[in-house]
Amino acid sequence: MVKVAFVGCGGIQNEHYKHLCAMDDVRLVGHCDVEKARAEAAAEKYGGDVFTDYKALYDKTKPDAVYVSVPPFAHVGMEEEAAGRGIHLFVEKPVATELATAKRIAEAIRKSEIIVSVGYCFRYYDTVSQARQILKGKCPSLIHGAWNGGMPEVWWWRRMDKSGGQVVEQTTHIFDLVRYLCGEVAEVYAVASTGCQNHVESFSIHDSSVVSLRLKCGGIACITSSCVANHSAQVGVEIVTPDMTLSIAWGKLTMKEDSKVTEFTSKVNIYEEESKVFIEAVKTGKRNKIRSSYTDALKTFMVTHAANESIRSGLPVKP
Ligand SMILES: NC(=O)c1ccc[n+]([C@@H]2O[C@H](COP(=O)([O-])OP(=O)(O)OC[C@H]3O[C@@H](n4cnc5c(N)ncnc54)[C@H](O)[C@@H]3O)[C@@H](O)[C@H]2O)c1
Repeated sequence: MVKVAFVGCGGIQNEHYKHLCAMDDVRLVGHCDVEKARAEAAAEKYGGDVFTDYKALYDKTKPDAVYVSVPPFAHVGMEEEAAGRGIHLFVEKPVATELATAKRIAEAIRKSEIIVSVGYCFRYYDTVSQARQILKGKCPSLIHGAWNGGMPEVWWWRRMDKSGGQVVEQTTHIFDLVRYLCGEVAEVYAVASTGCQNHVESFSIHDSSVVSLRLKCGGIACITSSCVANHSAQVGVEIVTPDMTLSIAWGKLTMKEDSKVTEFTSKVNIYEEESKVFIEAVKTGKRNKIRSSYTDALKTFMVTHAANESIRSGLPVKP
């Protein structure tokens, strides 16, 4: 039986609860949130004890694994304390808002050798695996990615110091897909706009941004983000190679070759998949099926962090 505890009992944790409580070999032992009522609500629904301090959660419930689903600014020691106790970690993306924090956590994890999975859930689509297979050995020439939509309701999202902005918090999924499918990023150059959301209280992130990436394989990418596009959401990646164009949008993969168009639809629930793989890794000690380690997620964070730096300085930045 794998004993699992939770730090942060908000929106996405509710998705994780759903899948974990359906697994026969998992027991939910405790819930910690700075808003006690959220931990209480989770405990009432799924069982386990209530905490407002993660160290007390770790010491009293002695979990095998912890799901950390706090906002980006709130990675204030829960990973390092878990690593120090040998507790395995599932950590929601993005890994932090500050590079120094992310690097410090990565070092604690490296020393501890615990198993860590970061919630880059798009990697668990069967259609993304298929795209990865198709792209093996090919040279992507041009990539266009986008996360253009509205603004999530959580209060911290619209504050640069709390979320890191849309590129770091949300479009990170798209940057991560580009790395996963097309390889590492050599250089980042970005511009952003502001001014359309002045009526929104405490709004301090960019309205929209365009990030250019030069990839190590020689290809280039343009990734756009917007949170003013309530009316026309567009989320996905298009990859152009000399033989084909692949489009990935949520669970759909479309392959366009000369006169042929082939479509694939995902058959999996990505949140269920990522938890199944993580729990199996905790049980067996084998981490090879985990698709996003902390070290890998840190690289995606560094690309998005470089985009913010480039927006600030007006210069290209190497991540
Ligand atoms: N992978 C995905 O598809 C996906 C989807 C949504 C959110 N997320 C990520 O999950 C994280 C959380 O997002 P959310 O939408 O669930 O936010 P949320 O605000 O709904 O929930 C976060 C919870 O963490 C709690 N919290 C804050 N600081 C804490 C601390 N120090 N100790 C304990 N609890 C603390 C808050 O009180 C809140 O209940 C973010 O990093 C977000 O990017 C991932």
